[in-house]
Amino acid sequence: MERQLASVGSVASFDRVACDISDRAQVKRAIDQTTPDIVINAAAYTQVDKAETEPDICHLSNVVGPMNIAIEAAQSNAALIHFSTDYVFDGRQSTPYSETDKPNPQNEYGRSKLAGELAIGEAGASHIILRIGWLYSDDPASFLSRMVDQFKNKQEVSVVDDQRGVPISANLVAEMMQRLLQKCDNNPATFFGTKGGLYHLGCHGEASWFEFAAEILRLMKIGKFQIKTKSLKAIPSDAYPSAVKRPQHSKLNVDKWRGVFELEPMQWQDDLSRIMKNYNPATPD
Ligand SMILES: NC(=O)c1ccc[n+]([C@@H]2O[C@H](COP(=O)([O-])OP(=O)(O)OC[C@H]3O[C@@H](n4cnc5c(N)ncnc54)[C@H](OP(=O)(O)O)[C@@H]3O)[C@@H](O)[C@H]2O)c1
Repeated sequence: MERQLASVGSVASFDRVACDISDRAQVKRAIDQTTPDIVINAAAYTQVDKAETEPDICHLSNVVGPMNIAIEAAQSNAALIHFSTDYVFDGRQSTPYSETDKPNPQNEYGRSKLAGELAIGEAGASHIILRIGWLYSDDPASFLSRMVDQFKNKQEVSVVDDQRGVPISANLVAEMMQRLLQKCDNNPATFFGTKGGLYHLGCHGEASWFEFAAEILRLMKIGKFQIKTKSLKAIPSDAYPSAVKRPQHSKLNVDKWRGVFELEPMQWQDDLSRIMKNYNPATPD
């Protein structure tokens, strides 16, 4: 994101050590030091399973943090871009979720992200909240990397086939942010004033986790990765015992994003294909 946005303006980035967003004084100091036009909050507690057993820690990062940022951004007339999630929905709707559909989160992570959205709304900063779906990257903890690792090392791989959503790469999200900020025309206050609010951002198409994994495997074969997997099996969610409920169908309707910003997302398979071409480019063994 930092690299992508450098073409739009100067970027200062902070990790948890430099700025714990749950600490209002640290947020204030970071904003006072950098006097930004726009603050982008990509920090969050994202461990969906673990959130059930440590809701207070999750709340600090996903509710108190965004609230602190929104209050301090408002104080210094900076606009805020914040990321949220498809997990604010219960996943029982058969059609893609619009911004006007009623959220009904099924787990602690989803509830905290929804509460974070509401806290931003109340803090008074000009903002854009972007709900995104199945975010992946080449980070080792990401679904993509875990699948690549399994296909390289395991004969048989099983993946859940009864949860559907839309994969989107962190690269594409960063590219969309770059193009969004280019549209501000050096006047973010006016831009966010007229176009701010809640948006759904995602690729076209949809997939189950199994279909997502199958596409990764197909692209690995084309990319001449060394693959050990002989069998990729589709399994139901209840084959993986988990205390956490996840939405069965969480595709987001992105018509508002496309209409207001005139930015066209790509098909998720094309996004993945671009990522796989550059995945671990030094050693696609
Ligand atoms: N991953 C997905 O599938 C997905 C889907 C939809 C939406 N989203 C949203 O997209 C955004 C980015 O997600 P991601 O998957 O890229 O997250 P990620 O890889 O888990 O990274 C989140 C970062 O936030 C940091 N962080 C957490 N609490 C913090 C705090 N109190 N102060 C400062 N930093 C803090 C974490 O630091 P530590 O490592 O030190 O904890 C981590 O570096 C989040 O808002 C997430 O809710 C993600």
